[in-house]
Amino acid sequence: MSTFKAVVIDKNEAGQTVGIRTFNEADLMDGDVTVRVSHSTLNYKDGLAITGKAPVVRRFPMIPGVDLVGTVETSSNPEFKPGDAVVLNGWGLGETHLGAYAEKVRVKGDWLIPLPQGLSPEQAMAVGTAGYTAMLCLMALERHGLSPDRGPAVVTGAVGGVGSVAVALLAKAGWHVIASTGRPEEADYLKGLGAAEIIDRSELTGPSRPLAKERFAAGVDTVGSTTLANVLSMTKYGGAIAACGLAGGMDLPATVAPFILRNVALLGVDSVMAPKALRIEAWNRIARDLDHDKLAAMTSTIPLDQVLEAGRTIVEGKIKGRVVVEIAR
Ligand SMILES: NC(=O)c1ccc[n+]([C@@H]2O[C@H](COP(=O)([O-])OP(=O)(O)OC[C@H]3O[C@@H](n4cnc5c(N)ncnc54)[C@H](OP(=O)(O)O)[C@@H]3O)[C@@H](O)[C@H]2O)c1
Repeated sequence: MSTFKAVVIDKNEAGQTVGIRTFNEADLMDGDVTVRVSHSTLNYKDGLAITGKAPVVRRFPMIPGVDLVGTVETSSNPEFKPGDAVVLNGWGLGETHLGAYAEKVRVKGDWLIPLPQGLSPEQAMAVGTAGYTAMLCLMALERHGLSPDRGPAVVTGAVGGVGSVAVALLAKAGWHVIASTGRPEEADYLKGLGAAEIIDRSELTGPSRPLAKERFAAGVDTVGSTTLANVLSMTKYGGAIAACGLAGGMDLPATVAPFILRNVALLGVDSVMAPKALRIEAWNRIARDLDHDKLAAMTSTIPLDQVLEAGRTIVEGKIKGRVVVEIAR
């Protein structure tokens, strides 16, 4: 019987355990495509799965890891053949379906997209769900009709993964980016990615007023809770905020005042179940617009056996930018 190496989360009466062990290929879940994984990445959600801090894992045993790049090994799906380079983001990988921190996955071909031209496997995972979500946020703001001439765009949790890519993408699209961070020592890093101004996240925490001074025409919020409430109260008339994260909390202690008095819009962004056409559009635009030097500047690489420690670090809000996980070394 064929086996491979994987991070495995188990659950017993004492709680959740996690470790790296061999896994039987025969125990993989149903799917019409088997992929040999070369790289994955670390997202906040992967940290939640590894630590058990939030119930993102819905099945045990589970292999965490929501993102992968790899090569098709076998396929009965007409769209994919052995040797094809593919990307997978979300669709329940690492939550309900055995995930990417493994040398092999078996998945539905419908979940896969071809590796975009112009991106190496490492670069695609440097982008990962975090970067693809940042692009979905920018596209949501544009669909709302917003453009850089309307005023500045704020990015919260700017030193994090989604935040770092959002800063680079918004700046490239011509926005005056105001990066909000709890790590002022990373100001040069954020300016290198394209931030025009850095603000301390304490300006956006604490109880929000229904309406505050209008500061932002647009925004990408990765933090939620009082941060999102404050950002909404500071959004200019007709502006919009794309909300994709909860790094500061899942609650939203806001009032309806920005919506009904300033015509402000709150745009929800989900990457996990996003339709395939939207994913392909986002990835093609990332391949075209995300500066490779900036991507390299925000990326570090670790081997699979360091991912458990890194998972604990990301939920503490201490990871800078993006982390690629090498599966095949
Ligand atoms: N909707 C989706 O489909 C989707 C997709 C990807 C990610 N997400 C969500 O987006 C969020 C960010 O993900 P990520 O992978 O970028 O995580 P990350 O790398 O850990 O970034 C989160 C950042 O938020 C800030 N932060 C952390 N704790 C905070 C707190 N208590 N108060 C205020 N700011 C805090 C920190 O930035 P500073 O140090 O700069 O302050 C941190 O780096 C997560 O909630 C994740 O679940 C959602």
